[in-house]
Amino acid sequence: MKINLNFAPAKTSTELNIYSCFNKAQEAKAASKIAAKTTKKASASAPAVKPAKAEKVLVNSHWPEEVSEAFAHAVASKHYKGDSGETFALTLVNGQSAIILGLGDKSKVTKEVLRRQVAHIYKAVSGRYEDATLHLDGFLIKGDLEGSLNAIVESLHMTSYVFDRHLTVKKTAKLQTINLLTNEKKTSQKKFEAAINEATKVGQSITVAKDFVNVAPNILTSESYAKEIEKDAKSLKGVKVKVLGVPELKKEKMGMFLSVNAGSAYGARLVHLTYTPAKSSAKTRHIALVGKGLTFDTGGYSLKPGPSMMNMKFDMAGSATVYAAFRAAVLLQLPVKISCYLGMTDNAVNELATMPDSIVTARNGKTVEILNTDAEGRLVLGDVVNYACDDKPDALIDAATLTGAVLVALGSEVCGLFSNNQKLADSLMKSAKNTSEYMWQLPIIDEHKNDMKAIVADLKNIGGSGFGGSAKGAAFIENFVEPGIAWAHLDIAGIGDSQGHLPYCSAKGASGLIIRTLVDYLKLQ
Ligand code: BES
Ligand code: MN
Ligand code: ZN
Repeated sequence: MKINLNFAPAKTSTELNIYSCFNKAQEAKAASKIAAKTTKKASASAPAVKPAKAEKVLVNSHWPEEVSEAFAHAVASKHYKGDSGETFALTLVNGQSAIILGLGDKSKVTKEVLRRQVAHIYKAVSGRYEDATLHLDGFLIKGDLEGSLNAIVESLHMTSYVFDRHLTVKKTAKLQTINLLTNEKKTSQKKFEAAINEATKVGQSITVAKDFVNVAPNILTSESYAKEIEKDAKSLKGVKVKVLGVPELKKEKMGMFLSVNAGSAYGARLVHLTYTPAKSSAKTRHIALVGKGLTFDTGGYSLKPGPSMMNMKFDMAGSATVYAAFRAAVLLQLPVKISCYLGMTDNAVNELATMPDSIVTARNGKTVEILNTDAEGRLVLGDVVNYACDDKPDALIDAATLTGAVLVALGSEVCGLFSNNQKLADSLMKSAKNTSEYMWQLPIIDEHKNDMKAIVADLKNIGGSGFGGSAKGAAFIENFVEPGIAWAHLDIAGIGDSQGHLPYCSAKGASGLIIRTLVDYLKLQ
């Protein structure tokens, strides 16, 4: 989709104009102001219009007269509410169409309202018009013009995503071009363009992640996935890529990771990407991102029942998430050093697959009794997190579709956060808030850690009871974080896919969530 920025007056040979409107009281007030202004112009003796109290939220829209006139009737009608999501369609004398989108109460419009409403209108019109002009001024929040623009463009990228790689007849949307038109002064042009460019870089990286997650597991294997990432990362400035295969993982003594790969027809891969910003000094912060990249999770010998196995191609969403955040941060050339580690394998069964009761030795020397081969993510992450600690990052964040239990604890709409460092947890919560993504911190208590201790080995990979399963998974991983390293674990099992409650996410398939939180976090370093 092409997004053009225009400053009025623009030659708008557009099929559709999109404006915003607000609730009845606010629209009535605006109408009376316009009427008063007109009277004032007509007779100089008319009482001066009281200057409007600083309208906290939105820049006034500047509508052409024909739109105002037609719309005035709608506002006057008893059915007008101007609620969020309400739409009014008008056909103008010049043959163009206009849709006026309700945003509800002006004072309650936030960036998330914009994301959701832009998604809503995109879906309503993308099948009907080839191009549309969004009249920005009614959509920008005062005091945060660029932030609003960023949210709008982000939403357009997320909403317009389609996954049609495996379809013989492609799903091309009719809507190909969106013009953003503003009456703001041209001096804002640079800032506006920067906001659009930034949102586009993040939006395109989200698309890359969603594609990886949605591709079928017989096509995206650990081997092909590693190659695809290597290919994609080639064009990124300041990035080095290293791919470890099975011989290297053996040399690294990653016994847990290799035990998961034992039953696979494909070799495990650890993709290690490093971004060093152009200007870096001893003070430059270094953040490590680790992702679970299970291209498919059958459960192994502890085989998942059919319905639970369905969709387990998305078990690599953690790796796609951290890669997309890394990719966006590099495109933005953020002044922070970032290392990204993606642990890739599937969890399958063959005659070599790891049997329950097996005991393996982790990279850090601890022995682990594998009581359930379906608790495989923590085995991969434990070794990869430990490997990442060698680079002594200032903070290490992993993302993984780790447990079904996180859906029980938080619902399928909230990302679980666990950490050994409250400052890091607070920063991630703040970034989640900044980007309107749902995240909630859960504890790792000593009892959770104790439940992961085994009798015949140092550790076991499942707890004695299934209660608190997400915390116990996190507690297990913590055993492989080197002392002194600030670590946070994001359990994205709930939010990795099927987030249709958000209008900018698909009902089925990859969500692309948490990438924006991570990018925000990296920006604040
Ligand atoms: N990939 C799954 C977690 C998962 C489950 C993600 C459901 C999304 C939806 C993970 O590898 C797994 O199987 N976890 C087990 C852990 C258990 C055996 C301790 C689970 O959650 O049941
Ligand atoms: Mn599993
Ligand atoms: Zn899994």
